[in-house]
Amino acid sequence: MEDKNAELIEKILSLKQKRKAVILAHNYQVGEVQDIADFVGDSLGLSQKAAKTDAEVIVFCGVHFMAETASILCPDKTVLLPDMNAGCPMADMITAEKLREKKREFPNAAVVCYVNSTADVKAESDTCCTSANALKVVESIDAREILFIPDQYLGHYVSTKTNKKMILWPGFCRTHVKIQPQDITRLKLEHPQAKVIVHPECRPEVIALADEVLSTGGMIRFAHQTDAEEIIIGTEIGIIHRLKKENSSKKFIPASKRAVCPNMKLITLEKILWSLEDMAPEVKVPEEIRLKAKLAVDKMLEIGRG
Ligand code: 13P
Ligand code: SF4
Repeated sequence: MEDKNAELIEKILSLKQKRKAVILAHNYQVGEVQDIADFVGDSLGLSQKAAKTDAEVIVFCGVHFMAETASILCPDKTVLLPDMNAGCPMADMITAEKLREKKREFPNAAVVCYVNSTADVKAESDTCCTSANALKVVESIDAREILFIPDQYLGHYVSTKTNKKMILWPGFCRTHVKIQPQDITRLKLEHPQAKVIVHPECRPEVIALADEVLSTGGMIRFAHQTDAEEIIIGTEIGIIHRLKKENSSKKFIPASKRAVCPNMKLITLEKILWSLEDMAPEVKVPEEIRLKAKLAVDKMLEIGRG
């Protein structure tokens, strides 16, 4: 197994150089994929990296909307998604057509779109945000009414921190809803000294039990800075690999072992190699949509981290 990986890794690294490619990986990717990436991060960090890279090819180890965002920002680069089936079910809970209908219902509302959405939906939105800057984005907008799509839980969390009127879309993450408040209360009893950090895609009852509500990038930073020796992690369990690797003296406890995103796990070393060999599957956003979507994504990048 080790030997097989060593050979695969060598082939990936040599082909990566030949193709002038960069490998970007999300914090939920399997450990061996994170370990060969040039950069591992959250959605905001990955978009920032994609926008700045001078590589000719971006191998995106994440889900489809992340590769689309890279394509929106880098139309002249080839963006590869090693498995085209790696989607985000939450992003598919809204379409551009349904959003247009809702906009007609709330003509005065500004549309803030979580980056976990398709390029078509971004093209119909005023501003994008990620979990790292959602509140800052909402607060930066002139309008009093915000139509927040598609994550109702991130939207609800922001609504508890702002005076703006938030209209929420009923989308949610199938992975994060598997974390139950009972999981947190049980783990807090077992580890009374532990800090609890959760992702804002969690249900409000889970968020209410947390010490901090953070993007995955925020969780990585928190783990480095905290004096706590035990931390309960309320997000997809792939992040535990990086947390342990970078903080060997601390203990990380997954809030629920059920919190696995099957789409994130579709990317493997083998598929990364094949994508570099075949220069496929490629994600390319049509120019007409890209130009509109880029306006919303650029605003998100201008605002930066919250
Ligand atoms: P982050 O931007 O916090 O990494 O979250 C992305 C995501 O898909 C969470 O489910
Ligand atoms: Fe989408 Fe949830 Fe997977 Fe994130 S964890 S990519 S929101 S399904």
